[in-house]
Formats: sequence, C-alpha cells, structure tokens
Amino acid sequence: MKTLNFLLLILVSGSLLFSSCKSTGTKTTDVPVQYAEQYRPQVHFSPPFGWMNDPNGMVFFEGEYHLFYQYYPDSTVWGPMHWGHAISTDLMHWENLPIALYPDSLGFIFSGSAVIDVNNTSGFGKEGKPAMVAIFTLHDMAGQKAGKQNIESQGIAYSIDKGRTWTKYEKNPVLKNPGTLDFRDPKVSWNKEAQKWIMTLAVGDHVCFYSSANLKEWSLESEFGKGIGAHGGVWECPDLFQLPVSGKADQKKWVLIVNINPGGPNGGSATQYFVGEFDGHKFVNESTDTQWADQGKDNYATVTFSNIPESDGRCISIGWMSNWQYANVVPTGVWRSAMTLPRELKLISENNKYIMISEPVKEIQVLRERKTELKSGVITGKLELDSQISESLLPVELDLKFSLPATDASTDFGLELYNSKGENLLIGYDKTKGVFYINRTNAGNSDFSKDFSGVHTSPCLLNGSAVEMHLILDAASVELFAMRGKVAMTEIYFPTEEFSGIRLYSKNGNVQLDSGTAYKLNSIWKESK
Ligand code: FRU
Repeated sequence: MKTLNFLLLILVSGSLLFSSCKSTGTKTTDVPVQYAEQYRPQVHFSPPFGWMNDPNGMVFFEGEYHLFYQYYPDSTVWGPMHWGHAISTDLMHWENLPIALYPDSLGFIFSGSAVIDVNNTSGFGKEGKPAMVAIFTLHDMAGQKAGKQNIESQGIAYSIDKGRTWTKYEKNPVLKNPGTLDFRDPKVSWNKEAQKWIMTLAVGDHVCFYSSANLKEWSLESEFGKGIGAHGGVWECPDLFQLPVSGKADQKKWVLIVNINPGGPNGGSATQYFVGEFDGHKFVNESTDTQWADQGKDNYATVTFSNIPESDGRCISIGWMSNWQYANVVPTGVWRSAMTLPRELKLISENNKYIMISEPVKEIQVLRERKTELKSGVITGKLELDSQISESLLPVELDLKFSLPATDASTDFGLELYNSKGENLLIGYDKTKGVFYINRTNAGNSDFSKDFSGVHTSPCLLNGSAVEMHLILDAASVELFAMRGKVAMTEIYFPTEEFSGIRLYSKNGNVQLDSGTAYKLNSIWKESK
C-alpha cells in the first residue's frame, strides 16, 4: 500500500515536473544516441532518455539477449509504465529497439518475465517457430485512484518475430486479482518435474506459486513467506531457479529471490533470497537467517534470464541500479537510472549454509582496453595509483588482493577515488567492525535526498589474512565483489567533477598489496550500433 501511494505521488508530481525529455511519441530509436552526458554510465545499460526502473522479461533467444525494462519515455520520473526494449549478443553492448509494450485499457504494464514457448503450449507459435511470450502485471491506475483493491492482474503478450513486434492476448487478464492490493511481478519458467509452467508471484508479504499447462490458465499451487525472512516492506519481483552447488557433484538447490521495498540492510530497496527445495508445487526453505544478494543501496529488482541454453548453463541476473528512496530525484539529465552489469550467480556451501555468490559475467573481458599490473608492496598511509593506470580513469575494472601482516596490521584499508574539488569515494574493509563498506558521505552531490549520503556496510568476517576486491567503477557507480563474490555491494554517486584520482589507503598500520590489476574499459556506446 505504502509503495502504491508513493508511486501515485510520483506519477502526479511527474506530470508537473515533466520537462526537457518529452518525446511526444518519438520512438527511442529516433533519438540520437549520445551517451556522453555527465553521469552517463559507459559500461552499464541506461535508456537513451526517459525514466527506467526494473529489468523485465530477460530472455535469450537465437543468439540475442533481450532486456525489457520498466519505462516511461515521456519523463524522467516514474509514470505510465511501458516495456522498453534492448538486445545484446554479448551482454555488454546493447542496441535500443522500439518500445515493446504500451499501457492499455487494462492498465500500465508493470514488471514481469518472458519465456520461449518451445513446445508451443500456448498455440501462439507459427509455422514451427516458437513464440516469445511475455507475462506481466496489468496495473489499473484508475482503479487505484478510486480506492479499489483488485487493481493488479496478470496479462500475456506474444511475439513470433524475435521480440520485434508484440500482440497482446485478447483474453487478458489470464490471472485475475483475488482481492489483494499487491499482486504482481510474475516470473515464469518451465518446470521439468511437474511438466508445467510455474509462475512465482509477489503478493504483499509472501509469494504465491501458480501452475499452467499453456500460459493462459493458471491455478494456485502454494504460498510461501509470511513471517519468514525480511518484512520491512512489500515483497516484489520474485524469481525461482535451480542452481548446482559448487564442488558437490550432482547436488542442486532451488533459490527463491524476493525483492523487498523498503527494509533493505542499508535502507530502502534490496534483494533477499532463500535457498531450499521446490518440487513443482511447494517451496521448502532451508535458509536459517535473512540473506541478501547485494548489500549496497543500489541494486533492486534483481531477476535472472530465462532460456539460457543448457550448453551455456549459467544463471545470469541483472538488477536496477537505484533505490526507491531517491530514484526519482537523482541528478542525471535526460534519463534516469541504469542497470547493474549482468552477473553470474552460483551457489556454494559453507559452514552448513548455502550462499549465493555473484560476479560480473566473463563477457566483461571484451571491454578491457589496457591492462596495468600494479606494483605490489606494503602500503602505509596512502599510495597513489594514478600514473600507474591512465589519464582518464573511468570506466575501470580493478582486481586487488591484499593481505594483512601478522604485526602492525591496518584496521581499515581500501581504495579511494577523488577529484580536484576534494570529493571522494571510499571502498574498503574495516577490520574492527568486520565489514566491507562504501563511504559516499563526501562523494559530491547528495542534497537531493536525506537517504543518499552515508557509509554502507556488508558484514564479512575474514577467515584468514587475505582480502580480495574486484571492482567495476563507472562514471557514476561502483560494483564491489569481494571474497570471490560472497560480498556484493552496488552504489551510485554523483561527484560535481568526475573522479580522476585513485589511491590505496591503509589506516592505523600496514596492509600488503599482493597483486593488483587494472583494466581501462572501453565504453559500450562508442561503437554503438
Ligand atoms: C518494483 C516495482 C514492481 C512494479 C514496478 C512498477 O520496483 O514496484 O513491483 O511492477 O516496480 O514500475
């Protein structure tokens, strides 16, 4: 309810604030793609203009990764939701395509998923070509304004030309609202055991599992989550998939992702997950405490790609790199928001616990332009890296391996980005507290929201003296992967002048840089198609 009121508020203010990016029906493909503005991500997907939130309908088909997304082309604040669309053949470079789904008489097109109906269960396929079917929430805004409860239902649409054009099913909605206000964000996948489609749906403070033989008729199987896990806000954008347990031949577990807003570990939106079993009907949780996929403030609505070929076998996720606390007011220009890098998800078992780990997909290597090996050695105080890396710093990828000496070990060390205005961003490990942190208190523009500035942490106790950090730093974001992906933190920042300086620091003692590699990354837009 809280969320819906909030969304309504921004919709109203959106039409007032509405400004420079009015497109008057212009297709995204008609707008010259510049991608060179201040704060414009250079290695992350962002829409050419307008508002973007959740990734939707991510699916792989015939050599193309499809990224649909919550999109409002007529403003840079949230509004009537469309599905924007982009494709990629390497998960890095994206080509903008025309809007896939427009709001209709049943409502705005909220979040959802897409599948390839290989067996033509829906009958939408033609001449042996399988249909790409999108399953989404229809959100009745007029009903919401009138104070109705049953405003969200699920609809479907299909494409038989590789997602280029879409037809909405004439009998929508396919899953009617049972009288519950929050009833949204269907994630559908084919379940081999049950030989049925399974839909995982967020319903306020729990998820419901529905099944279907044809994507058109759905029946309730079970529900999960009341009183389990984090409940600081409404549950949204769930996902359910199976992952092998690394190093344990033939062992597989089911992961249930549940995004939650607010109630994240550092405030606002975040992604929690549960690990357990799913037998085609019911999810049985085996996680004993609340687990977060990313502890930074800016990774929400994380969901995974459907139909990744078995020969590839990866589980790949993307999240929305923002937070509902301030997404509508961040100081970007003609567009708002970007996606995280695509990440490969894996499951490990440690101390009788399953942990989902994440790392950027290996395709990031295609962006690496220049490699610099950093000089290893003991760091006391500060060590400038500038001349070792490059003149224009961002975007850059860093792989750092530190170790703490047995005596005079630092209590706090890491990486600092800075500019000539005295602004800085600190990404480090605080040994006293046993946490990784991102400190953006002095990182530039932050007065747009009281919730933005701060030091945000992720607990991780070391079980040795080695600390690994893998970082992707873009014009306005950092993604930190530490301890081989056990820790992930994603945060955005808005320095008044781009960060151009970079140094390592060590407080109250020494830290050893065992090895360090920096890769200057190529912009994904330079050679944009
Ligand atoms: C999550 C969310 C979804 C909803 C969409 C609306 O960020 O609130 O639950 O479908 O955004 O844009």
